[in-house]
Amino acid sequence: MADTGQVAGNGDGRGGADAPAGLEGVIVAHTQIGDVRGLEGFYHYRQYDAIELNRRRTLEDVWHLLFRGHLPDRAERASFGREISDHRALPDDLIPFLRALAGTDPFDPLTALRTAVSLVAQRSGFRSWLDITPEQLYDNAMQVAAQTPVLLAALYRLRRGYEPLAPDPDLSATANYLYLLSGERPDHQRVWALERYLISTIDHGFNSSTFTARVIASTGADLGAAIVGAMGALSGPLHGGAPARVLEMLDQIGTPDRAEAWVRDTVASGGRIMGFGHRVYKGKDPRSALLREVATTVGGPTAEFATSVEDTIVAVLAETKPGRALNANVEFYAGVVMDACGIPRDMFTPTFASSRAIGWCTHVLEQVSGNRLIRPAARYDGQPPPQPVPVSD
Ligand code: ACO
Repeated sequence: MADTGQVAGNGDGRGGADAPAGLEGVIVAHTQIGDVRGLEGFYHYRQYDAIELNRRRTLEDVWHLLFRGHLPDRAERASFGREISDHRALPDDLIPFLRALAGTDPFDPLTALRTAVSLVAQRSGFRSWLDITPEQLYDNAMQVAAQTPVLLAALYRLRRGYEPLAPDPDLSATANYLYLLSGERPDHQRVWALERYLISTIDHGFNSSTFTARVIASTGADLGAAIVGAMGALSGPLHGGAPARVLEMLDQIGTPDRAEAWVRDTVASGGRIMGFGHRVYKGKDPRSALLREVATTVGGPTAEFATSVEDTIVAVLAETKPGRALNANVEFYAGVVMDACGIPRDMFTPTFASSRAIGWCTHVLEQVSGNRLIRPAARYDGQPPPQPVPVSD
């Protein structure tokens, strides 16, 4: 198409700056929540190394850091724990709606979760943040972050013909999630492993779903709308939808000696190797390195198989896609760790959504604190307007 030099929607047709495809490297906001340094293989939550935080702190502490801006002391930890607990319980009148959602065919847990968050927002009377106080918006954020895993577990149980369980106030957020899924108190190692995964995925710079949440929040929409939109963005295989596909890929590879040929065939036919490559990390993804350690500690045949084929896949990708620096990303070991924790494959991405909800909510709170409507432009490259409108037949 001819380039008319016209920027759509700017009204006066004056040219604007062209951003690279996929907005790669474009800074669209300032944030104090965290960032990713791709070349260094480093990411941080506020001023702390996210991996160090993960090794030393609980999910609730990191949640406090994001929502309140600092790590809690002992008293703050106790009161934040009570605050989370107070927000966790689902209202009884929501259950019939969740039951109906769980009974739909076909059923996809992430789609159901997205719909359930929308229901919660409606039932709780969420309104435009322009019409409520900052305290009310914070309360909305706390409710969504606390209830997302509870909703997910309720849908999971209802789908299998079991009644949802009430959260146990004596359990941590991670232990509660595993308990609400299975009805059994989880062992320490599973809680430890899953908590490492959940903390590692709470936030990650201006990824697609976080950007989506902020775009929606920037319009003045209610917090529920922003989180529902973010979940939609997360569902795609190029973003959060990869971990189940990683295990499917490992199944297809079958044995370590087949990995090289499988990767070569897939790349030759234009396919992508799930769990490899990243828009920002051009060296190691630190989350992947951490989760590899976790997977190795938890053990099991899937973990052993994944660690045994990782190096082969990286070597074949380096040869077939030179210069792209395609290493294992967070999703490669995410599925392995969740599988070891007893979480079924179709729950991998929804479980990811349940931790990222904390990050999305933090970004909504930050977006509204200095909001300007996010409204970029597109360069129109269709037929030059105005053309005469043809007379209708
Ligand atoms: N397998 C094979 N080739 C790949 C892969 C891969 N996993 N990733 C990138 N490439 C190749 C592309 O084919 C392309 O090659 P070309 O230049 O010969 O056409 C080149 O590397 C660059 O690819 P882009 O799509 O431009 O890279 P981008 O930075 O946009 O993509 C992405 C990043 C989407 C994560 C990509 O690496 C990918 O598709 N990975 C597989 C899916 C996946 O693991 N997603 C989870 C990401 S982590 C997360 O979001 C939480």
